Amino acid sequence: MSYRIAVLPGDGIGPEVTREAVKVLEAVGRRFGIPLEFEWGLVGGAAYEATGHPLPPETLELARRADAILFGAVGGDQWDQLPLELRPEQGILGLRKELDLYANLRPVITYKPLLHTSPLRPEILGDGVDILIVRELTGGLYFGQPKGQVAPGLTVDTCAYTDDQIRRVLHVAFQAARKRRRQVVSADKANVMATSRRWRELAEEVAREYPDVELRHMYADNCAMQLIRNPRQFDVIVTENTFGDILTDEGATLAGSIGLLPSASLGSGRAALYEPIHGSAPDIAGKGIANPLAAILCGAMLLRYSLDRPDAAAAVEAAVQEVLARGLRTPDLRQEGCRIVGTQEMGDAVVAALG
Ligand code: IPM
Ligand code: MG
Repeated sequence: MSYRIAVLPGDGIGPEVTREAVKVLEAVGRRFGIPLEFEWGLVGGAAYEATGHPLPPETLELARRADAILFGAVGGDQWDQLPLELRPEQGILGLRKELDLYANLRPVITYKPLLHTSPLRPEILGDGVDILIVRELTGGLYFGQPKGQVAPGLTVDTCAYTDDQIRRVLHVAFQAARKRRRQVVSADKANVMATSRRWRELAEEVAREYPDVELRHMYADNCAMQLIRNPRQFDVIVTENTFGDILTDEGATLAGSIGLLPSASLGSGRAALYEPIHGSAPDIAGKGIANPLAAILCGAMLLRYSLDRPDAAAAVEAAVQEVLARGLRTPDLRQEGCRIVGTQEMGDAVVAALG
């Protein structure tokens, strides 16, 4: 019996970075004797072009049947004029909603050899940061109804959260903190937003079940500032959907490139989804220069969370560390004295480092 991995490469650089991630997974599967079976599907703009919908029923079926989903990226200028429900982004938003993938884990980690590629001054990063941002993924402004033009001249997005939606993601954050440095910062706008006030109350309530974990509340705008002023104060940050979207892109600057950050979207059902936090980067698509490390590190998260193979996950992460230590860089990480390589060469180097 093999594990079934649904591979949904999507648009732009999605296919090229996902190909490298699959290559690395195949290699690690062979080395650790983990039987993996890959099934490819269409999503996003690519699916829209082929079927008229960014998340066709076959793709959803494939994702539901899978043990884990490896996702690339979606979107591109050519689809900008489509109505919201047909845009490529609906591919990923639909998967999150349909599979109830409510907790998005986005680790923000600095790699030693890259400390100087971050735009932040070296004394701010010190010897590095290790932050886990837990972003709520199925509620808030992204999904609240009504949405759109409700009257002539009036367009709305609704920020809505049920207590259950808030509680369950808070539990994920507190449980994660228990395996780390036992500190949770909950980012909200409780000074302005009703959903944030409720979020804060429930955070207090949930925190009582984790007396060994310290909870701090922080306004999301202040959190954005603190992330680049003093990032080492953070262990786990938990926040709602939109704030999490923004704070994780910001967090990527700490790592040195958005091309380095993987994420895991865990849900109430079986399959979890793994996607780089970067987008489809149409400007560099097809040139073979995109950084595949975020996608490859998604493979590591997949091994850890979906297949319960921390040994294989750690091997992939160590291989990534090694290629960076040896001075290999994709152009997004351009650095004096380092060797610039393309997407495929970077993937091959990770495979070679796996031994
Ligand atoms: C992300 C992306 C998505 C989001 C887009 C592609 C819909 O920015 O995963 O961070 O906004 O959630
Ligand atoms: Mg985003």
